[in-house]
Amino acid sequence: MKNLISISDLSPKDFQALIKNAIEIKNRKSMYARSLFEKSLIMIFQAPSLRTRVSFEVAMTQLHGDAINYYAENSPWGLGKESMEDVAKTLSQYCDVIAARIYSHSEIKKLAKNASIPVINMMTNEGHPCQILGDFLTIKEKLGKIKGLKIAYLGDAENNVTYSLMRACALTGNTLTIACPKQKEYYPKDKVMKEIKKLAKKHKNKPATITTNPLLAAKNADVIYTDSWMSYRIPQEEKDRRLKDLKPFQVNRKVFSKTKKSAIFMHCLPAMRGHEVTTEIIDGKRSVVFPQAQNRLHIQKAILLRLLGK
Ligand code: CP
Repeated sequence: MKNLISISDLSPKDFQALIKNAIEIKNRKSMYARSLFEKSLIMIFQAPSLRTRVSFEVAMTQLHGDAINYYAENSPWGLGKESMEDVAKTLSQYCDVIAARIYSHSEIKKLAKNASIPVINMMTNEGHPCQILGDFLTIKEKLGKIKGLKIAYLGDAENNVTYSLMRACALTGNTLTIACPKQKEYYPKDKVMKEIKKLAKKHKNKPATITTNPLLAAKNADVIYTDSWMSYRIPQEEKDRRLKDLKPFQVNRKVFSKTKKSAIFMHCLPAMRGHEVTTEIIDGKRSVVFPQAQNRLHIQKAILLRLLGK
């Protein structure tokens, strides 16, 4: 495992090992306290972040390394004055690992191809692998297993978190049902659907299925997952129309009544209470959103240690 760009690049063994290692690191924090001494992580941000930025930065601090925050808007690359190839080659001279949150997936692939150090995808338009690995750590803790579960995703499915969840379920053998509007802007891209079908076939699992019926998706689910209807890339002027289109896919008491009694509610955050989820559900007893956010820290450590050969 040289980089972490997409969940599709991992084997089921890699995926399970990262979860197992994160549990070990979480339980025995002091054992790892100097693991990344004199190592430097550079984090490139083109989009906002609370959880990803802070969890990676704290992870590096707790492992005795350094993290540098670098904002793309002030960079020669962000200003269109330098190629990603040259950024990759330059940063490889100073740092030990690069993490990037940039919209273009093809640009992060260029970064990984041209860097001589590991590259981590902190979110592009096509995936958010660190988020989903942390989420499966939470699923393992809360439900005791990471395969054979029924997971429902409701809402905007043309979304990086949904795509990584689709990949993870195809890789690990969980049944994923997505409920989303049928309009193209909310529906997974054809190329991602093809990729998921191929991945599921390779691992002898079933690909995600898609419905417009949220109650059907939620029926007997172990996990209900949703994400913001106003992802970072969406312009504010589209808000009213999107809220109207997505309203039938809100996670609320009626949706939750269809799930198993033991079902958990997940959201990668940031959340908009009253839109994709009601306050009652996100702040209710089945919600795991804050343990889910906390686990970002432990999985980031597992990812960093694995990529740096520790
Ligand atoms: N879930 C997530 O990636 O949060 P941030 O955008 O705050 O990093």
